[in-house]
Amino acid sequence: MKVKDVYWDLLLNIKEIYRTVNASTESLYITYDYNVIKSTDTILSDYLAVIQFYPDNANDAFFEVLYGDEVSMKLKKILELYLGYIIVNKHSKTPFACVHLAQTIDGKIATVSRKSKWIGNEENLIHAHRIRALVDAILIGGNTFRIDKPRLDVRLVKGKNPIKAIIANSSLELENLTPGKTYLFSNKKQSYNNVHADIEIVNIDDVSGYICTKSLLEVLKQKGVHSVLVEGGPLTIRKFIEDKMLSRIEFHIAPMLFGSGKNGIELQEIHDLDEAIRLNNPKYYNIGNAIMIVSNL
Ligand SMILES: NC(=O)c1ccc[n+]([C@@H]2O[C@H](COP(=O)([O-])OP(=O)(O)OC[C@H]3O[C@@H](n4cnc5c(N)ncnc54)[C@H](OP(=O)(O)O)[C@@H]3O)[C@@H](O)[C@H]2O)c1
Repeated sequence: MKVKDVYWDLLLNIKEIYRTVNASTESLYITYDYNVIKSTDTILSDYLAVIQFYPDNANDAFFEVLYGDEVSMKLKKILELYLGYIIVNKHSKTPFACVHLAQTIDGKIATVSRKSKWIGNEENLIHAHRIRALVDAILIGGNTFRIDKPRLDVRLVKGKNPIKAIIANSSLELENLTPGKTYLFSNKKQSYNNVHADIEIVNIDDVSGYICTKSLLEVLKQKGVHSVLVEGGPLTIRKFIEDKMLSRIEFHIAPMLFGSGKNGIELQEIHDLDEAIRLNNPKYYNIGNAIMIVSNL
């Protein structure tokens, strides 16, 4: 989806101002000149839209947007897609966690030789960078770091690079990390030499060999992180799904077939349809030559 600069600046502005909102008493008003102001007033008349908060509700019903008559369809669509990354419950015990995956029609996110650049189209890359700019942190698994060496920045859009988080019990070549605050989660004491001051190693014990993603998210929350984009890969996503820690999932579905390769989502086998995870209120978007499905979990 194309987003005009004025709309993107508006979203960045909402993110900035939302940090200081008292969700119990205040609403956010979007003015006709695309400014954002906080107010305890609830009269819509002179504004394009009002974002109202329901701090006692769960994440997906945490806010509502009331639109005035003057708001364009385009802005409505942009707010519908992107506000969910910004307006998250600051008082929950764990951050809002979401996934964005670029996959083929047959559900593959990499070839058998682990090539994945690029399954998604250019618009998808920009969209992924927008999400990075709107959340507080991006998280990846050790193999994605080892194979893709992603920069995890927002170079394609205006905005601040988020905090990085990596989960890996085996060692990583930290010299491949781009600059910026990074948490490295591990369930073993790793003996990394000359760790840069930006990198903090967080050890979380776990008897099953996997770090409990809820504990990991609680640590991030304590460090001031309210939203996390889990960028993959599949094993990392699986653990978040199994721990029921994901609130939202997005599939960019590219018009490609691999017929082999790595599945984006791999869970325990099921035998009955009533064991399937059903996506809650999915929405569909055209993204260049591809489609994107966005859904709550
Ligand atoms: N198309 C896309 O959108 C997309 C996005 C991301 C990645 N990918 C592709 O995905 C592939 C890698 O996927 P993958 O499933 O093999 O690996 P992955 O999920 O990136 O990494 C798995 C590794 O992360 C660590 N890990 C993850 N969750 C953990 C937990 N809860 N507790 C402890 N450790 C945890 C472990 O590291 P240790 O091995 O160190 O213990 C595990 O072996 C790459 O080919 C990459 O290109 C594609």
